[in-house]
Amino acid sequence: MAKKSQPTWGGRFSSSPAEKVLRFTESVSFDRRLALYDILGSVAHAKMLARIGALTRAECAAIVKGLERIGCEIVDGKFKWRADLEDVHMNIEADLTRRVPAGAKLHTARSRNDQVALDMRLFVRDQIHAVQDELRRLQRALVKLASVNSDVVIPGYTHLQRAQPVLIAHHLLAYVEMFDRDHGRLDDAFKRVNICPLGSGALAGSTLPLDREFVAKQLGFDGVTQNSMDAVSDRDFIVEFLADGALIALHVSRLAEDLILWASAEFGFIRIADAYTTGSSLMPQKKNPDALELLRGKTGRVYGNLVALLTLLKGLPMTYNRDLQEDKERLFDTADTLLATLGVLTDMLLNTKVVRERCEAAASDPALLATDLADYLVKKGVPFRQAHHIVGALVAEAERLGKPLNALPLETFKKHSPKFGPDVLQVFDVRRALAARTAAGAPSPANVKRQLKRWEKLLAD
Ligand code: ARG
Repeated sequence: MAKKSQPTWGGRFSSSPAEKVLRFTESVSFDRRLALYDILGSVAHAKMLARIGALTRAECAAIVKGLERIGCEIVDGKFKWRADLEDVHMNIEADLTRRVPAGAKLHTARSRNDQVALDMRLFVRDQIHAVQDELRRLQRALVKLASVNSDVVIPGYTHLQRAQPVLIAHHLLAYVEMFDRDHGRLDDAFKRVNICPLGSGALAGSTLPLDREFVAKQLGFDGVTQNSMDAVSDRDFIVEFLADGALIALHVSRLAEDLILWASAEFGFIRIADAYTTGSSLMPQKKNPDALELLRGKTGRVYGNLVALLTLLKGLPMTYNRDLQEDKERLFDTADTLLATLGVLTDMLLNTKVVRERCEAAASDPALLATDLADYLVKKGVPFRQAHHIVGALVAEAERLGKPLNALPLETFKKHSPKFGPDVLQVFDVRRALAARTAAGAPSPANVKRQLKRWEKLLAD
């Protein structure tokens, strides 16, 4: 067997992996995406090796220069990736060593196990910031749509049945709250991502006097991991990112569903710009919210990625196991899906108009104020349970007569309770009803205006 055709670790082997095994185990076809992070980590590692005397200054400079060249070739698409070199780490190292003899010293006190853990942390760190930026853009679009329609009333729903009037701005700001919690969760996850595992070696560190803090500082980490065995096998930080992503996808899906309903002829509350809808190949009149449906549908794969990773990690013995290589595509897919969905959703909201007449027609249903009618009686000393019953009977009577609640004569009201007076009709003034909802978190126009101001200030870039 010609030793030179063997992989980097070929010293103890009499043959290279079988072709099928090679194709089955290689990861360079997808982990090449980590290349620039891998180079960043290698540069920091080389500088540390020079600092502790494991590389001369000249060797370090040659390695750094070589790595930078490789980085440029990768960016330009000129780098030759080799599947027989398994992964991104060995591809870069082998190429470096071909150019720079000192490259053979770069892997001193390092294993692909701590190297890949580092690359993944660097990648997740950037993805967290990218997703957070998209969340902010989405929140701004929601606040904008809310503020240009700040006085439009719609029915609020429970069980998808008309319940009580709200401002459409209040409904939209509910999503701003959700996406803000998502943003905060990513902040929290970031703290656990931003710890440097390099120096943990394969699992038991190194006999060389490493300066791990120096590496961590160069790479912008807040500290170094404290247990080498944990550090090479920990993927909790990816689980957290995928879980945070699952909640984001859930919120996106709920918003997509609301928008799909609102865009239907039955609701007609919004009109989405043509560019964000598609037609039917058969029915000429159709304007379909396909993009929204896909925003809703993408949730499945984002949940799937989380469950796949949790399943992958469950029951793994300490420490590194090759199973862990399966973390990458799940992570990449969630990151890509989140960025794409958030981007499309934001652009669509920026190109959506609220149809005031349709909203207000729906909100003018006096039954929406049945609860306010009960509150009217409560203010006159009737216990709430009794008031609820009285108003229920009135609603039934109106239904029997085929009349809206506010078209019943005063005598009918009085028949159900002597506490009703001529002022009862004021209850059915939607604006008045909204204005009365003044407690914190309720949709009085003054409250909603305050919330809009708060968000505008918070989200100002
Ligand atoms: N491609 C591997 C992964 O993604 C890198 C680490 C390989 N380590 C090993 N001992 N085979 O997990």
